[in-house]
Amino acid sequence: METENKVGKGAIGVFDSGYGGLTILEGLRRQLPQYDYIYLGDNARAPYGVRSFEIVYRFTLEAVQYLFDAGCPLVILGCNTASAKALRSIQQNDLPKMEDPSRRVLGVIRPTVERLGEISRTGHIGVFGTPGTIASQSYDMEVAKLYPEYTVTGHACPMWVPLVENREAASAGADYFVKQEIERLFAADPQIDTVILGCTHYPLLLNKIRRYMPKGVEIVLQGEITATSLADYLNRHPEMERRLTRGGGCEYLTTENAERFSGMASVFLSTEISARHIQLG
Ligand code: DGL
Repeated sequence: METENKVGKGAIGVFDSGYGGLTILEGLRRQLPQYDYIYLGDNARAPYGVRSFEIVYRFTLEAVQYLFDAGCPLVILGCNTASAKALRSIQQNDLPKMEDPSRRVLGVIRPTVERLGEISRTGHIGVFGTPGTIASQSYDMEVAKLYPEYTVTGHACPMWVPLVENREAASAGADYFVKQEIERLFAADPQIDTVILGCTHYPLLLNKIRRYMPKGVEIVLQGEITATSLADYLNRHPEMERRLTRGGGCEYLTTENAERFSGMASVFLSTEISARHIQLG
């Protein structure tokens, strides 16, 4: 059990609106177990997927600032919605004005898109995401930069995050919503051969997604991809790598009730953890 595993300055911050970023944290800790991590879930204000640009930006900035103040030189937005709606503004407008502009914030969308060339044969890409991520067209824009010949079909799944956050991911009722969204995506483009799970909550529905996905379609998960991309980033930025501590610890913070978070996170991570309550905003 990871209890009160307080990490000092030099941890990598991982942020999500709620539990979804734990799927990113797991990927990071599997591939880069040597570093310390602080996970922050803004569960009290989740879901972000239906919120406006301004709100997601403000909430994400508060979380990033909190993790910076806690001593993280580097923060990963383990959330597509925050990556889509807040990352660019934070990188371009807020970071340069902060007292230490050498700290960094990275997201999950670009690393995911970079890998598509190795995976897709038809160049027809499907993206499942929150209404916010899909409406932002962030995937469409990133793909257009790297693979202009590809076709992207985004599809919002507004019920999937609530199913996960309410521990209904394994229930029979969840099958209905998973099957329905997959059918709608493939009705829009039957040539899709690669589907990005563009929301970090969705891997919790993976068993059901696999069950209803047409045969031969590749499902792109972001945990491993984000970890590989971070490893590469740290290789290219030794000045950042040197700022990270190597204690292998992880601290869990939530804006909701700590016991509730700990119970639920333990299901996600299949290991017992103990979280601490914090306040944002
Ligand atoms: N996990 C977040 C993502 O990757 C979204 C969850 C939410 O709607 O808050 O988009």
